[in-house]
Amino acid sequence: MSSFKPLVFSGVQPTGNLHLGNYLGAIKKFVALQDGNDCMYCVVDLHSLTAQLVHDDLEDQTRQITAAFLAAGIDPEKHVVFNQSRVMQHAELAWIFNCVARIGWMNRMTQFKDKAGKDRENASLGLLAYPSLMAADILVYRATHVPVGEDQKQHLELTRDIAQKFNNDFSERIAARGLGVEMKMGDETVQGYFPITEPVIGGPAARIMSLRDGSKKMSKSDPSDLSRINLTDDADAISKKIRKAKTDPDALPSEVDGLAGRPEAENLVGIYAGLADMSKQDVLNEFAGVQFSVFKPALADLAVEKLAPVAAEMRRISADRAYVDAVLRNGGERARALAEATMHDVRSIIGLLQD
Ligand code: TYM
Repeated sequence: MSSFKPLVFSGVQPTGNLHLGNYLGAIKKFVALQDGNDCMYCVVDLHSLTAQLVHDDLEDQTRQITAAFLAAGIDPEKHVVFNQSRVMQHAELAWIFNCVARIGWMNRMTQFKDKAGKDRENASLGLLAYPSLMAADILVYRATHVPVGEDQKQHLELTRDIAQKFNNDFSERIAARGLGVEMKMGDETVQGYFPITEPVIGGPAARIMSLRDGSKKMSKSDPSDLSRINLTDDADAISKKIRKAKTDPDALPSEVDGLAGRPEAENLVGIYAGLADMSKQDVLNEFAGVQFSVFKPALADLAVEKLAPVAAEMRRISADRAYVDAVLRNGGERARALAEATMHDVRSIIGLLQD
């Protein structure tokens, strides 16, 4: 009996501009994980319909995210880069997971509560089922590791719950078909069809906050453009946004503990650390006792140095639409073959007749 082959999967929605939170919390990790792992990176266009059903430019937004992946350094020859809707098996498995997951699980999702707001009755069914499609994205490849920002932690816990319930509910049928894979559950070794995926969350930039309000995460949907650094911002815009970022009047502390209760200061230190591949403590070792009037220009210089080449590369790649489309088409084909192998097993486990 084999165990699950390590596979990294993650997705980004094609809604609005990518910002520094997406870059540091997710895309930079995607790039780092390429070495020594098989990776699949997906532009989740079907998920974006839960935020906005009618788009003027969904195709271009999808290409834009793809260009960002490539500009950041993801290698589409070695790894699989594709858009979700090209692989219909995601939607097929999501339906099955809709029948596995419980409404109570979905109702507890904080992102659903935030996005649905007060008028839950009027939220789309897709918004409620969003995490079920996300679980399908991951599990249709039986991916073992998922790099994401902190805000996706609860969705990944739900993915684990869905995998576990499927494995339990169908355990006999999985075993009867010889499709079980050995997995560790605590001290026990059990058989399952889907892995219990590990989130890859952490580091100083797992949760980048708004530059205007250290209690809110940096987000595509914040009405204030000053709240976020977009991956497409030029050097002037980046410097201006950092200069105008909210801070407190104190100097930087010498220890990470000294950032407690200072969310804006902590955020800027975290951004510096994420951009420079340092820990927050390393940053404080360098800047202890320094005022924001000195730290902010240093941060702005670093941000421009790190982000400007990505933005320039993104523009260059975006201009070559045929290339971006070819990457997605090729990635879609490779992904479809893998996803269909899983679905063939899943249909057989469930008892859905197929060719
Ligand atoms: P999305 O498109 O909202 O965000 C993409 C990635 O960026 C991370 N992120 C952040 N990280 C740190 N600080 C922030 N302020 C910040 N804002 C966003 C997100 O955590 C995410 O990793 N549900 C996912 C998309 C998805 C997915 C998947 C992810 C669909 N299927 C399967 C992993 C696996 C989302 O909304 O991402």
